[in-house]
Amino acid sequence: MTAKPIPVIAIDGPSASGKGTVAQIVAEKLGYHYLDSGALYRIVALAAFDEGIDWQEENDIAELVAQLKIEFEHGEVYLNNQNVSERIRTEIMGQGASQVAAHPLVRSALVNLQHSFRKAPGLVADGRDMASVIFPDAKIKIFLTASAEVRAERRYKQLLSKGQEADYQKILKDLQDRDARDMQRIVSPLIPTADANLLETSQLNVEQAVDIVLTTISAKNG
Ligand code: CDP
Repeated sequence: MTAKPIPVIAIDGPSASGKGTVAQIVAEKLGYHYLDSGALYRIVALAAFDEGIDWQEENDIAELVAQLKIEFEHGEVYLNNQNVSERIRTEIMGQGASQVAAHPLVRSALVNLQHSFRKAPGLVADGRDMASVIFPDAKIKIFLTASAEVRAERRYKQLLSKGQEADYQKILKDLQDRDARDMQRIVSPLIPTADANLLETSQLNVEQAVDIVLTTISAKNG
């Protein structure tokens, strides 16, 4: 008898679609591990920035990735033993993340690290290519979206609540730029896989989105 594969719930979607929040709650409710793959690209952008490496320098960044010590602990993110949780969440690092993420060598340098999160009893993985590339055998694939305006509004409120400065029009423009870059890149573009469950959350709050994801999971298990 072959061992059952460790189940993966892949939750992909565009920037500020709420997938991170939804994915974390679903992971908690199921008692599963959680992978925030976007944080990895943000860490790489930050590390390159700190080293003075331009985000367009594919080879240099891929080499740098191999040397990074990345750890997640109790919701905090550590780069080379330093807590970088706040520094990676700025808008500029979001833009940097989407630039470094467009490099095939950078993406392939992060594959093993992402696979290492797949541990019993299961994993909820959040990103852009969880279902299409990293965990194509995921048991459940959710593609979570919302209109650009709703997403910009959510991001705007999130920044204000953290006491950061926020300009709605700028956020909307940055988000549209990032969407375009994420969807048009050649490697792992942001697109739903044919077997994904689409979840449009413009009219839903977090709780409702979580409920739909959990119902989808139990329907599949049942
Ligand atoms: O929080 P937000 O949704 O804005 O972004 P994120 O999930 O932290 O991801 C930051 C950037 O990393 C995205 O704009 C993508 O370009 C990139 N990314 C990716 O290419 N592949 C992933 N699996 C996750 C993120």
